[in-house]
Amino acid sequence: MLLLGGCEGVQSVLHPQGPDAERIATLGWIMFAGAAAIFLLVMALIAFAWIRPPQRDWFGSSRLVVVGGLIFPTATLTALLIYSLAAAGIATRPPATDPEIEVVGYQWWWEVRYRDADGEVAFTTANEIRLPTGRPVRTRVSTADVIHSFWVPNLAGKIDMIPGRVNELMLEADEAGAFRGQCAEYCGGPHTWMAFYAVAEEPDQFARWFERQQQPAPAPQDPILQRGLEVFTSFGCGACHAIRGTDAVGGFGPDLTHVGSRRTIGAGILDNTTENLAAWIADSQHIKPDNPMPPFDFIEGEDLEALAAYLKSLQ
Ligand code: CUA
Repeated sequence: MLLLGGCEGVQSVLHPQGPDAERIATLGWIMFAGAAAIFLLVMALIAFAWIRPPQRDWFGSSRLVVVGGLIFPTATLTALLIYSLAAAGIATRPPATDPEIEVVGYQWWWEVRYRDADGEVAFTTANEIRLPTGRPVRTRVSTADVIHSFWVPNLAGKIDMIPGRVNELMLEADEAGAFRGQCAEYCGGPHTWMAFYAVAEEPDQFARWFERQQQPAPAPQDPILQRGLEVFTSFGCGACHAIRGTDAVGGFGPDLTHVGSRRTIGAGILDNTTENLAAWIADSQHIKPDNPMPPFDFIEGEDLEALAAYLKSLQ
């Protein structure tokens, strides 16, 4: 029962939530059942050979060797190969459409770009993908540095992000929900902490999110938030991060225009709260060692609180 409990969850191939993931899970169960049956058969034959004295009957015949050792494995593996190629959808891809989401892997986070109906980049975000339920979304993946691997086990198969190459996969979710994705290829340092969320939403809710993400950040009205923006500007955060609607246009780190609306910070590793934002700014090396952001422990007290509050307000 404990083992079965592991099948549920937001990052599990055994809990498929979309058609591609469903096919992969079915293939996995067929392989598991087949391997288990063959294992039991071989164990039974070994036991049989053990308890019987050797004799020259059918059990020692060359016919058994030919059938059991050549014909059976060849037929089984051929059938499995054909089935798995079909299940992988090599013959049944949906017609090509423009990519809607582009994900670029960085050490150790994810840049996410959305395109509008004209194929132009509508906005850039990071470490969280949203998609509408009920239809496949063409997703293009690439990398800015080393090999990463893009994987949301509940929704689709795994695909590598390879330097100099663009790979594609279809993401599709049947129902609304949030599913965890993980970099599945060792990419150095905090590879383990290179995660993200794929959030599936009803189409009209997704459309509202898309609309909101296209807007620049509004100028803060509250004095504390104004102070937060001043701190952000004066300490040079904009050299690495962009906030559309301000002077910050850095492209080295995640776009922060709507950072407050995301579920997590640090690429899927911390809940997105004002306290965690402050902790990350002050000493992210303590939270995610070797990430490229230096500690900003000289931003303290009310300055730090205002900065974290400002970032959290960017919904
Ligand atoms: Cu990126 Cu592992």
